[in-house]
Amino acid sequence: MASSIVLFGPPGAGKGTQAGNIVAITGKPQISTGDMLRAALAAGTTLGMEAKGYMEAGQLVPDDVIIGLIEERLTQSDANEGVLFDGFPRTIAQAEALSHIAELSVVIAIEVPDSRIVERICGRYTCGGCGAVYHDTFNPTASPGECDDCGHTEMKRRADDNEDTVLTRLSAYHSQTAPLADWYKERNLFVAINGDQDIEKVGAAISSVL
Ligand code: AP5
Ligand code: MG
Repeated sequence: MASSIVLFGPPGAGKGTQAGNIVAITGKPQISTGDMLRAALAAGTTLGMEAKGYMEAGQLVPDDVIIGLIEERLTQSDANEGVLFDGFPRTIAQAEALSHIAELSVVIAIEVPDSRIVERICGRYTCGGCGAVYHDTFNPTASPGECDDCGHTEMKRRADDNEDTVLTRLSAYHSQTAPLADWYKERNLFVAINGDQDIEKVGAAISSVL
């Protein structure tokens, strides 16, 4: 398999927002474990039922479930030329498993201070049609309630986008995911991007890395 990219960062950093641009530049498909788990939950699958409680509480889903999900996804033919991982890996165990199944070219870390995260998460909404990501204040749709990208008129808010759950997600990020930064720095794969600036500026900084 050709090399893959990891998009890394705390909840609300802008991983989903920036993923489309990276897909357009590289042609690699986005694999978001969060989106896959939400789709499984909506479909009522066993996986979705298993993940539900963890996601609603803002805790990480167990490593074996996530690694199995990724292993299965990587067997699809669109992954042959490498992929863009969004929100995976999130633990050292996941990173170790990934190192046996895919080669990485870079880990792009979008860095945003904790003080910005709650306002970002609590103002987020997404298009129910294409999944485009918006924000009440920072990135609203041009016409209220209508997706700029696909024209769909049903907007969604995530069940885990509330202040209490965000704080648990942030705590999980710091204790379980942030240690991966050093792990990838030791492997010379880590590139930090300042995520505390306009969406377009974050996009330009990422493009220059690619
Ligand atoms: P997941 O869906 O991955 O959520 P997350 O990591 O918490 O990240 P988010 O999707 O919340 O944030 P984002 O960085 O994509 O930000 P976005 O671009 O939307 O995971 C959800 C749950 O699933 C986890 O809690 C866990 O339970 C489970 N899970 C998933 N993967 C797992 C794994 N590997 N292992 C174990 N469990 C797993 O932007 C946020 C908002 O900010 C938007 O409104 C956007 O418009 C706005 N915004 C973006 N950029 C900017 C900017 N530069 N300036 C101002 N506003 C901005
Ligand atoms: Mg996301």
